[in-house]
Amino acid sequence: MSTVTSAIRTAQRVDRFTYAIRNIVTEARKVEAAGTKVRYLNIGDPNQFGFLTPPHLIEAVTRAMRDGHNGYTASPGIVEAREAVAADFGRRGVEVGPDRVLITSGTSEGIELALTAIVDEGEEVLVPSPTYPLYTAVLAKIGASPVYYRTDHTNAWLPDLDHLRRAITPKTRALVVIDPNNPTGAIYPDDMRRSLIELADEHGLVILADEVYGDLAYDGPVPPMARLAPEAPIISYSSLSKAYLAPGWRAGWMAVGTTPRLDPALAAIKKLADGRLCSPGPMQYAVVAALGGDRSHQDGFRRELRLRAELTASRLNAIPGMSCVAPRGAFYAMPKMTLPPGKTDRDYVLGLLRATGILVVYGSGFGTDPTDGFFRVVFLASPTELGAIYDEMAAYQFA
Ligand SMILES: Cc1ncc(COP(=O)(O)O)c(C=O)c1O
Repeated sequence: MSTVTSAIRTAQRVDRFTYAIRNIVTEARKVEAAGTKVRYLNIGDPNQFGFLTPPHLIEAVTRAMRDGHNGYTASPGIVEAREAVAADFGRRGVEVGPDRVLITSGTSEGIELALTAIVDEGEEVLVPSPTYPLYTAVLAKIGASPVYYRTDHTNAWLPDLDHLRRAITPKTRALVVIDPNNPTGAIYPDDMRRSLIELADEHGLVILADEVYGDLAYDGPVPPMARLAPEAPIISYSSLSKAYLAPGWRAGWMAVGTTPRLDPALAAIKKLADGRLCSPGPMQYAVVAALGGDRSHQDGFRRELRLRAELTASRLNAIPGMSCVAPRGAFYAMPKMTLPPGKTDRDYVLGLLRATGILVVYGSGFGTDPTDGFFRVVFLASPTELGAIYDEMAAYQFA
């Protein structure tokens, strides 16, 4: 028997890896243990707030299981699902063959596959500030660096193109575009999308287009970015998690743009995908049912989201010291609180949590300056619950 008692050392990359949206739950558990009820406005999971998976998708998964589709699938996914994704892109104005589509374990795996396939240790990727934090977490894991480009809350949270241009270096490999955006709820107009494509083109960058909220713009689905430039090197990804209300299934897809310039990236992604065998098999049948079937649930969902977005912006803007850009898609808002000197967004968020049980995520977890006072709210709760939560936020005195 070993006599060594010291703990097994962990890898340094874990120290660099942070994911504030879930990390902050540790603090919430302490507050709960002390007897305060916690209202979780930290994770964007519609199922937890009563927005349920459409029955025909559940039927597709259970049928697949009953029909014996419980083995491994081909690494890029079953042909039917890849064809369904390709056909869906076609209907949205983007021609892409099923051979350039992979079925993934959510958008998350698409992000990890794309970054791992393209970016070497020591290289850089442009990510928006604020960003969805998985980008910075995966880059930390692979030893590459995120370089933030500013999106501007005084300009509807649109990218600041001058800042973006200045952030490009010889080490830059890719430009991440999240549109509709988490955490800001912004949607980019076509001229902004074109400018981003041109900038990427000038510098030989691949665009990673995170389109997981594409169907959740309140005015109706926004087309994929690739529609504006079929020849541009764009890798797009999305999933059933948000617009199809099945986040726990881990069912998503990625499409690698048709330009031959992306052929090596496609081959690299497929090679990496072989190593993880396949994404969950039965859920791939739901991708076929979702993209080829009825999506009327999205109309009601978008209506509910618009209602909550309007309520959130109007109630938070009425709180002294707070301002909030009205979201135009998805289910997040990124308000800003004026902080007393010396205080950070984390101080505010933890103070609010301990005093009221309301759990939001500090903006610095998404890459904003800790003293800027941003924080992210997930507004999926019912309007009545949200109203009560915003009353408590208004009453909370932060000093
Ligand atoms: C912008 C963005 N990209 C990707 C993801 C991950 O989604 P999935 O469940 O498809 O992995 C999320 C989840 O919140 C997100 O907000």
